[in-house]
Amino acid sequence: MCGIVGIVSNKSVSASIIRALKKLEYRGYDSAGISTITNGEINEQKCSGRVDNLEKILFQNPSSGDLGIGHVRWATHGIPNQVNAHPHSSEVVSVVHNGIIENSDKLRKEYEQKGYSFKSQTDTEVITAMLTDFLKKEDLINCIHKTLEKLEGSFALGVIFKNFNNLVVGARRGSPLAVGFGHDENFIGSDSYALKSMTNKISYLDDGDFCILYKEKVEFYNSDKKKINKEIFELSSEDNIADKGDYKDFMSKEINEQSTTTKKCINEYLDKSRNEINIFNLPINPKKIKKIRLIACGTAYHSCLMAKYWIEEFTSIDVESDIASEFRYRKVKLDPSDLYIFVSQSGETADTYAALKKCKENKIKTCGIVNVVESSIARLSDFVLPIHAGPEIGVASTKAFIGQMIVLYLLTLKISKERGDINLDEYAKLVLDLRKIPSLIEETLSKQKDIQVIARDFINAKGTMYLGRGYSYPIAMEGALKLKELSYIHAEGYAAGEMKHGPLALIEDGIPVVVLAPKDRFFEKTISNMQEVIARGGKVLMITDDTSETMSENIRFKFQIPKTNSTINSFLLTIPLQFLAYHVALLKNCDIDKPRNLAKSVTVE
Ligand code: G6P
Repeated sequence: MCGIVGIVSNKSVSASIIRALKKLEYRGYDSAGISTITNGEINEQKCSGRVDNLEKILFQNPSSGDLGIGHVRWATHGIPNQVNAHPHSSEVVSVVHNGIIENSDKLRKEYEQKGYSFKSQTDTEVITAMLTDFLKKEDLINCIHKTLEKLEGSFALGVIFKNFNNLVVGARRGSPLAVGFGHDENFIGSDSYALKSMTNKISYLDDGDFCILYKEKVEFYNSDKKKINKEIFELSSEDNIADKGDYKDFMSKEINEQSTTTKKCINEYLDKSRNEINIFNLPINPKKIKKIRLIACGTAYHSCLMAKYWIEEFTSIDVESDIASEFRYRKVKLDPSDLYIFVSQSGETADTYAALKKCKENKIKTCGIVNVVESSIARLSDFVLPIHAGPEIGVASTKAFIGQMIVLYLLTLKISKERGDINLDEYAKLVLDLRKIPSLIEETLSKQKDIQVIARDFINAKGTMYLGRGYSYPIAMEGALKLKELSYIHAEGYAAGEMKHGPLALIEDGIPVVVLAPKDRFFEKTISNMQEVIARGGKVLMITDDTSETMSENIRFKFQIPKTNSTINSFLLTIPLQFLAYHVALLKNCDIDKPRNLAKSVTVE
């Protein structure tokens, strides 16, 4: 996490740095800072809290200078206060950092012995000391190279130097760094989105690379200090659309645009005239896939859990879903005839990326399902399936989750067809049904007001449960995660049938419980589990496509989703759960787009 930006220009850069930092706040928002070279000196200004605070400081005490670096922080080492905020500067160098320096304790001791003192508790400040020290005896390239060589862990860095007042240095190992090319100015940023108002021409550093930005050119070097060339990508204007429009916050915009984003995604993959799914050239012939492993973090992991159910239903392939932070360290038997699928909205999540790298190093075929197509995960995967959701800014993922599920569902059906696991009539029917998803989502979105009413039941709850069976179970888990993230209320997603093995003990008078009970093959069983909850005083919010009046008197509230085939009602069950989390958070006055302690792109372990 953390976001970094660097600019070298022919005009003052502080306003552009602030603008870019505001775009990067989704990566961290507990403190912010900026350094420029002003009148030949390093001018560092930083504060705790949001970029708005930094902007106020700069308003009173403007920072001129035509090159500089900026930072938004998500604290890892040291509490989020002004001293620990980045940049970290000496007389001669100023550094911003995203990532974790794992050998920082050792390096700190080494440099303390050399006479350097440290002001902050951060791991980053050792980089400042090292660069300062190497500068005494090395030229610029060797100074950077030797510093990077000594660092262990993950980082993206932005550095400015008092004595090289015409350049900004960027470096990357493990954390992402984009390079933007402008007219008489060049940029680095943690992502292209931060740079989009300044340029649409972007390159990316690979692990081990560093770069030197001058206003008229950019030089790239690899880990052996050899000059290298980089491909330049042109961002499409669509990649650049990311504003709230008339919405109060990004999250409500992102929830409400899900019918449009799913339509776009489906259109990208469906050949309507042939009623066929356009996914070809998978890295392994579908007929030869022995096993599928799905790997991700957070919400993306829940889309993998969902896909496990679909793959088991429609194919004869064995399937497992794994949390990336566990998978990367497990002694998994990596078999080249297995297909490994990595799901990530940002395409930058450190654990997912590390898990992918582990597979690549073992010559395993990989498929990345991402939203950000120029991301590290997309670039490293053998095969990429974009979800076409457009920029997702709210920290809690919504439209990307639906997009991930759409692509995983399409992939499942396609693999199933290619293997001959599904009969062609059923395949044709399921593809036709799939095309109805956007309008069904639209219909579900129109019922937001119903959820607003029930949200009041949750605001004072000390905890809540989300229950589901079969396809509804992963959705229950995702619903609970949304409530936790946004409203800070403890919530658990549970397999309804598992309640009696422990969690039922939590049910007491008045506790709100969300029950996902679509009219599928589990309906009666789920209803029985719901009865057990009601009998113990649970206040049930039932979400169902069942239209009968049975049970109504015992249920606190029933939310009706449209009827559809049971394999895809997961898409519709998701919507009211997003609204619920959103409205509870709104009633509790929580920061919707930037929940406490979280960040959207988690680039540290
Ligand atoms: C963070 C975000 C979550 C997201 C997870 C995985 O925790 O707050 O919303 O699901 O990272 O992110 P990814 O970009 O890999 O999908």
